[in-house]
Amino acid sequence: MNIRTRVGIIGAGPAGLLLSLLLAMEGIDSIVLESRSREEIETTIRAGVLEQGTVDLMTGMGLGERMQREGAAHHGIELRFDGSGHRIPLSELTNGRAITVYPQHEVVKDFVAARLKQGGSILFNVKDVQVSDVSSSQPHIRFVHKQEQMELQCDFIAGCDGFHGVARSSIPASGQTVFTRSYPFGWLGILMQAPPSANELIYAYSERGFALVSTRSPELQRLYLQCDPQDDIANWSDALILEELQVRLATRDNWQLLVGPIIQKSILAMRSFVIEPMQYGRLFLAGDAAHIVPPTGAKGLNLAVADVRHLARALTLFYKENRTDLLEAYSNTCLRRVWRAEHFSWWMTSMLHRFPDDDAFGQRMQRAQLDYTVSSRAAATSLAENYVGLPIDW
Ligand code: FAD
Ligand code: PHB
Repeated sequence: MNIRTRVGIIGAGPAGLLLSLLLAMEGIDSIVLESRSREEIETTIRAGVLEQGTVDLMTGMGLGERMQREGAAHHGIELRFDGSGHRIPLSELTNGRAITVYPQHEVVKDFVAARLKQGGSILFNVKDVQVSDVSSSQPHIRFVHKQEQMELQCDFIAGCDGFHGVARSSIPASGQTVFTRSYPFGWLGILMQAPPSANELIYAYSERGFALVSTRSPELQRLYLQCDPQDDIANWSDALILEELQVRLATRDNWQLLVGPIIQKSILAMRSFVIEPMQYGRLFLAGDAAHIVPPTGAKGLNLAVADVRHLARALTLFYKENRTDLLEAYSNTCLRRVWRAEHFSWWMTSMLHRFPDDDAFGQRMQRAQLDYTVSSRAAATSLAENYVGLPIDW
């Protein structure tokens, strides 16, 4: 069966869903193809931190009602090392900008509900997605839906299918350059049924490695521990996780972690990855399909949002004014912000983690950097402006 749309979007993550919503605002039709079920995408635990620009965009589009009610605006973060906490006053250093803690799967729920309410098309549980003819003016996507072989003809294809998706692999090796960096550690992430241990996020550097205290709701905490990326989660009993968190987060004034039942735990690898350019013919990559950052800077979801804002604007000008200049500039426009975020995420990661092969010199350098970051207003401002997010047209 053949169907047609203007923009075929692969992936119903934050990037793909937001793109379909932004295009709909301009009267441009699209179809989103998602390999997982609606239930799965609405329950997968991922990011938690939304930049000010992401929050403003969602609010401006009328998608921020639940986020305003259930999310929590944070005006600072804590850097903790050598048994003491140091507050970085984000809002004071950035003219009142802030971050909002609102879980990614809630963002996804809000986007799916809004798109379906508009009568938009999101096909879940699609299989065998294949992209063809992206160098022609009529690219198409073949896929299987409800056991039927389908072909979606489009003007453009947006590859919003994440790091493990198929869109990127349809770009020939000669048309791409890949930049990667892997890290010799991963994060063990848990969800714990307990009220927040702190009002703001805590990024802790310790002899035993990094720890992060975040939250999800007034009843649920999200916590992370640096660990061996090859480790088996079965090696981490709940008691061991709690003990390790308590040791890494200990302060001289006896700060206490509020504890409760651990209801979910998993280990994730960390990497940096960028493909250049983010476009090939009429295929445009956005979000994790084009770049990955280690989560220490809380940038991944926010970068995905920034990409699709540029892509939606470029497609709108194409359809409304027959202009191709923004489409041609898409990759360069996005990559400037992507590389800024890559650097910030690498910098935060390098400052806060223990490197297995690091010597005393390396550790002294980390301490010197932490000390400078919390003592100098200029250094703290640099962290703050990156953390709350640079303006979209930066
Ligand atoms: P995804 O969310 O990966 O969505 C891609 C979608 O495409 C998926 O639904 C997938 O099922 C679908 N798909 C894949 N292959 C196919 C196919 N062949 N056909 C059809 N569909 C397909 N970012 C932040 O900004 N702040 C944070 O605090 C933060 N914390 C994080 C913490 C953790 C533990 C992790 C793992 C990530 C974190 N991130 C954070 C990163 C953030 O989650 C990602 O950057 C974000 O999900 C990217 O969105 P996306 O839409 O590009 O890709
Ligand atoms: C989260 O709450 O999941 C989170 C917060 C901050 C990060 C990464 C993840 O840097």
